[in-house]
Amino acid sequence: MGEQSVSKSIGVGVIGFGWMGRTHSRAYRNIPVYFPETGLKPRLVAVADTVPERVDLAIETFGFETGTDDWRELLDRDDIDVIDITVPNALHEELVVAAAAAGKHIFCEKPVGIEPRATAVIEQSARHAGVITGCGYNYRWAPMVQFTKQLIEQGRFGELTHYRGRFFSMYGRDRLGLLSWRFKQEEAGYGVLSDIMSHTIDMAQHLCGPIARVVSVKEIFVKERPLPNPGEGTHYDRGKPGDPTGPVTNEDYVGALVEFDNGVRGTLEVDRSIFGPQ
Ligand SMILES: NC(=O)c1ccc[n+]([C@@H]2O[C@H](COP(=O)([O-])OP(=O)(O)OC[C@H]3O[C@@H](n4cnc5c(N)ncnc54)[C@H](O)[C@@H]3O)[C@@H](O)[C@H]2O)c1
Repeated sequence: MGEQSVSKSIGVGVIGFGWMGRTHSRAYRNIPVYFPETGLKPRLVAVADTVPERVDLAIETFGFETGTDDWRELLDRDDIDVIDITVPNALHEELVVAAAAAGKHIFCEKPVGIEPRATAVIEQSARHAGVITGCGYNYRWAPMVQFTKQLIEQGRFGELTHYRGRFFSMYGRDRLGLLSWRFKQEEAGYGVLSDIMSHTIDMAQHLCGPIARVVSVKEIFVKERPLPNPGEGTHYDRGKPGDPTGPVTNEDYVGALVEFDNGVRGTLEVDRSIFGPQ
């Protein structure tokens, strides 16, 4: 195998240094190692987070050159080519629209906006600016999924008649799990519909084509959760019995019966509060 040399540096600014901000930053650092054939070397120029400790962590541990609590500062910098948006869903629209207007290429985490209207605005702003965009529907890139798609396209499964998509997650099963932004309509928008059904729908349409018709149900199983301290806590952190609680305002469960354009019938089911195998 010939050795590849890294030729192009790309300046990256990450907004939101929680779970995904860290995951993406690790991935940027690994690109020259795992994908040397790209010839790309991401440069972690700047990070923005409203929690100062997270900015410090990004600089000290991940090697970001600088950080701030104001994401707007990243858009003013000429040495940032790509803005990576890994903040709670309610902020996606404002940040993508501003980043596109500043001429930055954009990676925005799913669900790309808090509601369909916001997603349409985001799409239009990015198209209008002519910037390159990407979003976090990562499961479709798994080698097994890519191979399955190839087999479907080659007709190796014959004519498809049924599709079953299921994404059962445990992150909300602990009744003492904190009331993080994910469980609140005003910060997350929908619950599992945005959070994990979006992945399930993306994969279903990736493999089977557009969904034509749908009927669905939803439910909130865990109605109250302990309140986090401001600036602390993710959906994996726990409160204690007797802590003050607040209401969960978006759904834990969605089940849907679907029909695809090509006549395939199927079911899609997601849950964040379930016990047992995932
Ligand atoms: N593709 C996937 O599989 C996947 C997995 C998890 C999360 N996500 C998506 O990633 C996004 C972030 O989720 P997460 O789990 O990393 O959340 P998180 O709560 O762990 O991190 C969010 C971060 O954003 C910061 N933040 C909040 N407001 C800010 C502001 N105004 N300016 C700068 N920073 C701000 C918070 O302090 C926090 O550090 C969500 O849109 C979520 O849907 C995608």
